[in-house]
Amino acid sequence: MDRIRIVGGNRLNGSIPISGAKNAALPLMIASLLTDDTVTLDNVPRLSDVSNLSRILSNHGVDRNVPGKRLGQTVETGQTLSLCARTIVDTCAPYELVSTMRASFWVIAPLLARMGEAKVSLPGGCAIGTRPVDFLLMALEKLGATIRIEAGYAIVTAPKGLVGGHIVFPKVTVGGTHTALMAAVLARGVTTIENAAREPEVVDLAACLTKMGAKITGAGSSTIHVEGVARLNGARHSVVPDRIETGTYAMAVAMTGGDVLLEGARASDLQAALTVLEQAGVDVVNENEGVRIRRNGHGLMPVDVTTEPFPGFPTDLQAQLMGLMTRAHGTSRIRETIFENRFMHVQELARLGARVRLDGDTAYVDGVDKLTGAPVMATDLRASVSLVIGALAADGETVINRVYHLDRGFEALETKLSRCGAEVERVSG
Ligand code: UD1
Repeated sequence: MDRIRIVGGNRLNGSIPISGAKNAALPLMIASLLTDDTVTLDNVPRLSDVSNLSRILSNHGVDRNVPGKRLGQTVETGQTLSLCARTIVDTCAPYELVSTMRASFWVIAPLLARMGEAKVSLPGGCAIGTRPVDFLLMALEKLGATIRIEAGYAIVTAPKGLVGGHIVFPKVTVGGTHTALMAAVLARGVTTIENAAREPEVVDLAACLTKMGAKITGAGSSTIHVEGVARLNGARHSVVPDRIETGTYAMAVAMTGGDVLLEGARASDLQAALTVLEQAGVDVVNENEGVRIRRNGHGLMPVDVTTEPFPGFPTDLQAQLMGLMTRAHGTSRIRETIFENRFMHVQELARLGARVRLDGDTAYVDGVDKLTGAPVMATDLRASVSLVIGALAADGETVINRVYHLDRGFEALETKLSRCGAEVERVSG
């Protein structure tokens, strides 16, 4: 199993190209099931979650075409992926495939909308508390689906097709909003989605669906209206830049000090996180080419942050912020409101010398003068990258085990960091 070895202490200087967003690429790929035409996606990140989802889609009959290397293409430039679901041959997504990645459950919506039936294993994915799918199934029910749970599978049917309906989510859910959108675009009549997720990835999915011929208004606000159409066509769409990757590297630079341009990043997609960095004493400059992060000399100030749905501070940056705050001058308070049990990085950060106290959904992080390298274990996708942030500022060597978690969500991490001066390498085996 691969490991990542980091020797801390180097400042980061230079530029880091930001990849396409994993959390946008996945629903966009799934949306290809809605049409028998080709959907071509540009700027798709090279990640294990993308390859896993490709496998799941091909089991439904989706043809996948990836063009060869082009001039100027490097390991960090995104790939183009053409997906064509001309004939859906199987409406079942089996446990062996779905259990590796929670988002693959979302295939349930386009399969149901186009084929009138789907049988999808209840999901696995990151070990961050119970992550139910009750809201997703409720949304499908509101559009006329009949639902049964049997032997670990959700079996949904709508033999006469879906019909528009009124969906009110009791809690903001990204996956629920994606699912409702993908079901509603082919339903007969009008659907209203209330308390919809406003995340940029939802806006990106709605933009691609619109290119495919869907009639959607209000994406990016809490109320989305969809007027169903009989058929969708193919389209070409470029995946939005990854705001979580952007925030992660911003925190890495804040941790080590230095000056790095995050190329292609969109500040408006992570304003809450950038504001927190500014409160901590980091310079954030919005430039034409991206977002520049600078910290020279001064120590970090502690912060008080609560995770919230977009446009609030994202839960997917909570672990990284904690990694950063381990070196602040004072005590930070970080409250996690989206997922229970999303503090597994605390134990591992403690191995580097971090001092974190947990009280229910709140972590109190007492900044320390120094961290010291140690062997640590990645526990989930975002937790593992918080260890990278800690390690970049720790004295000596840190070896991160189980990096397959990192490979799910961070493209060419070691290349991007080492180009900016970090001592980081992947050790195979
Ligand atoms: C997506 C993101 C994930 C991010 C999360 C919150 C992808 C691939 N993943 O996950 O990285 O951390 O949004 O921003 O885009 N809930 C229910 N019942 C449901 C659905 C959700 O109770 O049927 C709860 C969840 O347990 C959680 C909250 O709603 O407490 C929000 O979850 P949700 O937004 O649905 O997360 P995901 O879409 O799974």
